[in-house]
Amino acid sequence: MNAAAELVVAIDGPGGVGKTTVSRGVARALGYQSLDTGAFYRAAALLVRLHRTDPDDEAAVAAVLSGADLDYRDGVMLVEGVDVSTAIRTESITAASSRLARLPGLRLVLVERQRAWVAVRGGRAVVEGRDIGTVVFPGAAVKVYLDAPPDVRARRRAGQTSTRLPEVATQLGRRDRLDSTRATSPLAPAQDAVAIDTHALTADQVIARVLDLCRGRGIEPAGHPA
Ligand code: DC
Repeated sequence: MNAAAELVVAIDGPGGVGKTTVSRGVARALGYQSLDTGAFYRAAALLVRLHRTDPDDEAAVAAVLSGADLDYRDGVMLVEGVDVSTAIRTESITAASSRLARLPGLRLVLVERQRAWVAVRGGRAVVEGRDIGTVVFPGAAVKVYLDAPPDVRARRRAGQTSTRLPEVATQLGRRDRLDSTRATSPLAPAQDAVAIDTHALTADQVIARVLDLCRGRGIEPAGHPA
């Protein structure tokens, strides 16, 4: 296991639950960096499409990703040094990333990249995804599982895109199913994760709760003595 994981704050949960907003807010307060692992799966979907690789050919997909230069800096996903942050947010890449994420061979490659990203930052990272507390950093100092009812998440997501609510709700439902029923690293709370229902909370309230959990593990906001 990765010794640096003792400082990691893991934030898991389904789509539209507010993971990115919360992760960034917690990271800012701690003086940490935040990593959106979903951006890696989205970048994988983009690369597979650009290379015209068969998305069901696991070995070919893993080979494309093994050789790829992927990085994530200040909220920006870089593939071969190019900012793909907008290109990976289309509906079609969103759906493709969820399908690709079921491939164990691809997950192995991406999980290693995510661990390396955190290791070079001395383990000081807030990492968001679906399998962070269960698989990527099972030794994380703090594990949070954010959740909210599907209709609440769909309304939040619809507010961030130009897609209409019924369409967003259908897409989110499909992704929820794919993400939580796949055989490898399905979306699920770690046994030792603290579940937070974000339904009736503001982002700031959720961030404050996570920071409380961090304090409980000796991880203090920047500027406060540890
Ligand atoms: O968080 P997101 O919606 O950007 O993630 C896109 C897809 O990537 C999501 O449907 C499932 C997959 N994913 C995953 O399987 N494991 C992660 N740690 C992060 C994302």
